[in-house]
Amino acid sequence: MKYDGYIQSSDYEDLYFDVIQPNIINLNLLFAGFKPVKNKHYLELGFGMGRSLLTHAVSNEGYFVGTDFNENQVAFAKNICEQAKISNLTLYADSFEQLLERFRKMKANGEEVGFDFIVLHGIYCWVNEENRQIILSIIKEFLREGGVVYISYNCLPGRATNMDARHIFKLYSQKKHTENFDKIFSFTEKFAQLEPENTINKNILDTINTHRHSHPIYRVHEFLCDSWYLPYFSDMTETMKNLGGGGDLNYICECVLAYHFKNFTPKQENFLAQINDVIFKEQMKDFILNKQFRYDLYGRRLTKLSKKRIDNYLFEAQFVLLDYPTSQTFEGCEENLKWAYIELISKLEGEDFAPKKAKKLLAGLNTDKKVFFSLLINLMTLNLVGICVPNTTHKIDEVKFYNHSLLKEQKLSQEYIFACALTGGGISLDSLERAFLNHYFNENQMNLEELFERIYQDENFHFHDANNQACKDRESVFTQLSLHYKKFLRRLPILMKLEMF
Ligand SMILES: C[S@@+](CC[C@H](N)C(=O)[O-])C[C@H]1O[C@@H](n2cnc3c(N)ncnc32)[C@H](O)[C@@H]1O
Repeated sequence: MKYDGYIQSSDYEDLYFDVIQPNIINLNLLFAGFKPVKNKHYLELGFGMGRSLLTHAVSNEGYFVGTDFNENQVAFAKNICEQAKISNLTLYADSFEQLLERFRKMKANGEEVGFDFIVLHGIYCWVNEENRQIILSIIKEFLREGGVVYISYNCLPGRATNMDARHIFKLYSQKKHTENFDKIFSFTEKFAQLEPENTINKNILDTINTHRHSHPIYRVHEFLCDSWYLPYFSDMTETMKNLGGGGDLNYICECVLAYHFKNFTPKQENFLAQINDVIFKEQMKDFILNKQFRYDLYGRRLTKLSKKRIDNYLFEAQFVLLDYPTSQTFEGCEENLKWAYIELISKLEGEDFAPKKAKKLLAGLNTDKKVFFSLLINLMTLNLVGICVPNTTHKIDEVKFYNHSLLKEQKLSQEYIFACALTGGGISLDSLERAFLNHYFNENQMNLEELFERIYQDENFHFHDANNQACKDRESVFTQLSLHYKKFLRRLPILMKLEMF
C-alpha cells in the first residue's frame, strides 16, 4: 500500500527548518572540526509541504531534489516552484521505495546520481521498519564520499515517558475510528485519573498536558502513525556505522549550533571526563539531559581539520544583521553580556549593514574567541544574525522574484518564510511586516491610513498595548500600528541590504 502505515487523512503543516540549511549544516561541521561540504547536490526525503526545500533551493547554488509521497503536498510545492521559476529543484511524488528504484535505474542507465547532503527531518521514527531500511539504502547507495546526512528522530531516554500515552492514543484511535484528539485525550485522561498518583498515569497526564494545545495536525502525525520507533542515540550510530557502501557513516555532531557551547555542571563535566569514547560520552549526555529528540549529522569520509584551519575558516566566515533585538530580547541577561551583544549588533550595523568577517567583528571586543562565537551563535539562534554563503551568489534575482511572488500570493494575516541568497536560508517576516512591505512596493494602490484601516477590520489581527491589555478601539489599534510601522521602517534597510526584494 502506498501510504504504508503513514497518516493519509491530513496533509502536514507548512513549516520551515533552518537546521537543514546547507550553510547551517556546514557551520556545525566546522564547530565539530570538519571541513564544510562544498558541492551542493542536496536531497530531502519526506519534504512535507516543501517550505524548507523551496527556500533552500531558491537561495543556494547547487542542485536540489526532494520526494514526498503525499500528492497534495507535492502539488502545493510544485505550484510554488513553477510560479517562482526555481531553476535548480526537482520534486518527486515518489515513495522512498519508488525513489530508490528511480535512482537505481538512473544509475544503471549511466547517469551520475549522488548527493553531498541527504536530509530527513521528522521522518525516521514515524515510518515502518521496511521504510527505515529503504531510507538507509538510499543513504548507503547515494551519499557521495565527503557527504553528510542530517537525520532527526525521537529518542530514548526522554521519550520513554510518552510511550504508554501514545500506545493508548493509538489504540483508541484505531478501535473508535477517530483522529479527534479531544476524544482521544478525554478517554486517556479519564483512565489516568483513576489513579493519578501512579507513575504510569502521571506520565500519561504529563504527555496530555504537554500536547493539549499543540497543533492538531502535528498531534495526528506525531502519535497516530503505525510506527513510533524510539532508538537510543548510540543504537542509531551503530545503524549508521554498519551501513557500509563506500565508507562507514560516522557520527559528527548534533546539528544544533548552541549545543557546541553547551555547559554542563562541574560535577557532570567531571563525570563525563572519565569517558574517552565519543559515542558513549554523547549517550551519557543524553541521559543527563533526558534528551527526547536528536538532530544528528553523520559523515562519509569527511575531512578532519587542524585547529588552525578551523580558526581560519571561522574567522573568514561573514556574518550579517537580520533584525534588531526588541526591548525584551536581552532581559535577564548578565549586564556585561548584554553590553557585548549590543556592541556586536552595532558593529554589524556599521558600514550600512554590509556583511563582516568574524575576525573583524571580534577585533576590539573584550571577549575571548569561544565567548565571541557563543554570542554570535546566540544571536543566530534568536534570528537576529545570519552567516553568509561563502561565495557571492548568482541567485539574487531568482530570490527577489520568489519573494515578490510570496508577497503577492499569501493572505494578509499570514506570517511567512522568505528566502535570502546572502545567507542561503529562510527569513521569517511576520504578518504586519508583510502587509507593510506590500504597501511599500505598491504605494499607489492604498495609502497608509487605508492599510491601517484594513488591518483594523481584519479579525485575524490582534494587538496589545504597552501594559499587555488587548486593544479594542480603533484609536488604540492605530497607535500600536504606528509603533509597528516605525519598527518596520527601522528593519527595512536591513532587508534591502540582504537583497531580498
Ligand atoms: C512528519 S512529516 C515531516 C515533513 C517535513 N520533513 C517537515 O519536517 O516539515 C513526514 C513526511 O514524510 C512523508 N512520508 C512518510 N512516509 C513516506 C514514504 N514512505 N515515502 C515518501 N514520503 C513519506 C509524509 O508524507 C510527510 O509529509
